Amino acid sequence: MKGADMGIVGLGVMGQMLALNMERNGFHVAGYDVDDKKVADINRRYADRNVEAFSDLGAFLAALNEPRRIMMMVPAGKPVDVVIEQLKGELTIGDLLIDGGNSHYRDTERRTAMLEAMGLHYIGTGVSGGEYGALWGPAIMPGGPREAWELIKPVFEAVAAKVDGEPCVTYIGPRGAGHYVKMVHNGIEYAIMQLIAEAYDVLHRGVGLSATQLHVVFSEWNAAELSSYLVEITADILGRVDEEAGQPLVDLILDEAKQKGTGKWASQDALDLGAAIPTINTAVDARIISAYKNERVAASKVLPGPEPRYEGDVELFVNHVREALFAASLCAYAQGFSILRTASAEYGYDLHYADIAKIWRGGCIIRAAVLEDIRAAFVANSDLDNLLMDANVGGMVAARHEGMRRVVSYAAANGIPMPALFSALAYYDGYRSARLPANLTQAQRDYFGAHTYRRVDKEGTYHTEWQEMDQPPKR
Ligand code: 6PG
Repeated sequence: MKGADMGIVGLGVMGQMLALNMERNGFHVAGYDVDDKKVADINRRYADRNVEAFSDLGAFLAALNEPRRIMMMVPAGKPVDVVIEQLKGELTIGDLLIDGGNSHYRDTERRTAMLEAMGLHYIGTGVSGGEYGALWGPAIMPGGPREAWELIKPVFEAVAAKVDGEPCVTYIGPRGAGHYVKMVHNGIEYAIMQLIAEAYDVLHRGVGLSATQLHVVFSEWNAAELSSYLVEITADILGRVDEEAGQPLVDLILDEAKQKGTGKWASQDALDLGAAIPTINTAVDARIISAYKNERVAASKVLPGPEPRYEGDVELFVNHVREALFAASLCAYAQGFSILRTASAEYGYDLHYADIAKIWRGGCIIRAAVLEDIRAAFVANSDLDNLLMDANVGGMVAARHEGMRRVVSYAAANGIPMPALFSALAYYDGYRSARLPANLTQAQRDYFGAHTYRRVDKEGTYHTEWQEMDQPPKR
C-alpha cells in the first residue's frame, strides 16, 4: 500500500477500532504491530477496506504519506518509551507522533521536550469512550504544540463523537495538557461511578429494592436530569439476567474494584497542588477498601452496626437518592474543574473550561446532559472560581441539598457506607461556610509548634505562650 494518511502503532482493540473509525471517515490507514498473527488476521478481516497492517516497521513507515502522522495506541508507561525509541531514529523532521493512551502527564511533558528538540512534533492525547467510542466516536483531548494540532485536526475532528454537529475534540493546551485533562476526566469518572454505586447500595441493601426494580429506577433517572452515559449503562447492567443462574448478573459479580491508576494520579496531583477534590479521593479509597475483601468478610462477623430497615415512603426516598446523586455529581464536576483551574495556573496550560465541558458532552465516559449547563457556566464566566458559584449550576445543587442530607442521614443511621456522597455534601457545606474550625487547628499548631496564627480582629502574625516551659509534664 502507498499513500496512507495515518499510521497506528499497536493494533490492540483500541488501535484497531480507531483505525476502522479513521478509515470509515475517508482516511487510508496503515497499522503496525509486532504480532505477526494479529497483523495477518487484520489484513484478512479488512481486505476490502483501506486499512493495511504491517509487522515490518520499515514497510509500515514507507507506506505513510509525509509528513507522517503516527498514533501510538499502546499501554501507558514503558511501552510508550519503547515505541518512541524504535521510531525516533526513523522519523524525519516535521513528522508527528501521537500518544493516544492514558499516559501520565509528566511522562508526556518529558517526551514532548525530547522529541520537539529533535524537530519532531509530539501530541499527548486523551481518548475517552472505550472500544465502542474508539470505533464510533470518542472524545479526544489533545495537548502539544499548536502546529502539531493543526496537522492532526482534520483527522481528529472527523473521527470524534459529534454533539449538535460539533466534534468532541478541541486543542487543549501545550505539552502534557491533554493527558492532564484526561486524568481529571478519569478522576471525575471514578467519583461518579462511586456515587452511582452508593445510590445502588442504599436502595438495594438499605431499602430492599431488587436489581430488576433498580433497572427501572435508573432507566427513569436516565430520561431526566441525570441523563448520562454512566447512568444509562448502570440501568442496562441492572437489567441483565445471568441465563445460567437465572439471577441478575450484577448480584453474582465479586465486589472488588480494580484500577489502573488514572484516578489515583488525579488525587496525587491534587494533593501536590493543594487542590481539594475530596469526592474523587474518596472514590479512589473506596476502590482500595473494596479490595480488602477477606478482611471485610472477617470484620463483618465481629464489628457491630445497625441492620438497615427502611420504614418510610419508598418512592419519596428514591427521589431523595435521585436528587442526592445529581447534586453530588455536580460537586464532583466542580472539584474536577477546580483542580483544572489550579493546574492551568501552576503548569501554564491556559485551559479553556467551556471548551473542555463542550467536548465532554459526547463520546467520553462522563458525558452527561448537565455538561451543557457546565459549559454555559464557563461561557458566561471563563474565570469562575468554582462551578458551585454559577447561579444555575450552584442553584441546581442548592435545590437538592436537602435530598443529600436525607440520604446521608439515613445511610449513617443504618450503617450503609456512602463515602463519596458524604464527602460531596461536606464539600458543599465546607465551601459555603464563611467560618470553619481552622481557627482551632491554627491554635493547636501554635500551641505545640509555635507556628503562629493570624487574628480576625487585627492585622499581624501572633504567637501565644500556651504552656509554661519551665513546668515538668503533669502526670
Ligand atoms: C475512558 C476510560 C478509560 C479506561 C480507564 C479507567 O475514558 O474511556 O476512562 O480510559 O476505562 O483506563 O480505568 P480504571 O478504572 O482501570 O482505572
